Amino acid sequence: MTTPAHVAIIMDGNGRWAKARGLPRVAGHRAGVEALRQTVRAAGEMGINWLTVYAFSSENWSRPKSEVSDLMGLLKLFIRRDLAELHRNGVRVRVIGERENLAPDIRALLEEAEDLTRSNRSLNLVIAFNYGSRDEIARAARNMAMAVKSGQIDADSITAESFAGFLDTAGIPDPDLIIRTSGELRLSNFLLWQAAYAELVFLPCYWPDFGRADLAEALRSFASRERRFGGVIASDIAL
Ligand code: IPE
Ligand code: IPE
Ligand code: MG
Repeated sequence: MTTPAHVAIIMDGNGRWAKARGLPRVAGHRAGVEALRQTVRAAGEMGINWLTVYAFSSENWSRPKSEVSDLMGLLKLFIRRDLAELHRNGVRVRVIGERENLAPDIRALLEEAEDLTRSNRSLNLVIAFNYGSRDEIARAARNMAMAVKSGQIDADSITAESFAGFLDTAGIPDPDLIIRTSGELRLSNFLLWQAAYAELVFLPCYWPDFGRADLAEALRSFASRERRFGGVIASDIAL
């Protein structure tokens, strides 16, 4: 079975999971963190090299203040509680998303996680936090324009590959498989550039209910797909 090198997950449905149980939304987010822990473990064991998780979007700031603050608190708690174990297990943490406007304590924690785990090689965990593709692409264009202006690069030499080097995901392979839970059939501003040839799997379960069996099911679905990248499969040419 072909295992995708890079799996990206839109962890959606925490709020509805909580609502179905008569609980506040924050209870869903807490349960979502537990599902994330299990998924990181399972992904490593299943031989996935890169796991990207969408934790907070650039549009999630539009939620009620209290929910935004709950989500910020949970990120801090996750890094404080889990960083040592992730490091012990050889997980390298990287964070993508806009960082300048985050609170200083959160920025410091994100940097600490990246610095501590920089030389780890077992699983690459990429956390998309304050991430939105349009913002990422606009920031990349701005930085590239500045590099042109200062004479570091020549505008005529810009290619898709050189542009990708200015994205937050520079050096990270494109996702092979993108999974979204909760039944929504959309990308919600996630990895729009990088998803060009990703296989998409949408699962009905809410994120807190996502487990090893769901990941295995998504991997099976991926393995059954025929990826063509715009070309033709060799065996079809002769027909
Ligand atoms: C995903 O769950 C977590 C974040 C977006 C941070 P939601 O909070 O979006 O849950 P639903 O979609 O409202 O059920
Ligand atoms: C996408 O989920 C963002 C994350 C999972 C972090 P949303 O719940 O924010 O997306 P929409 O609003 O349903 O498109
Ligand atoms: Mg949602």
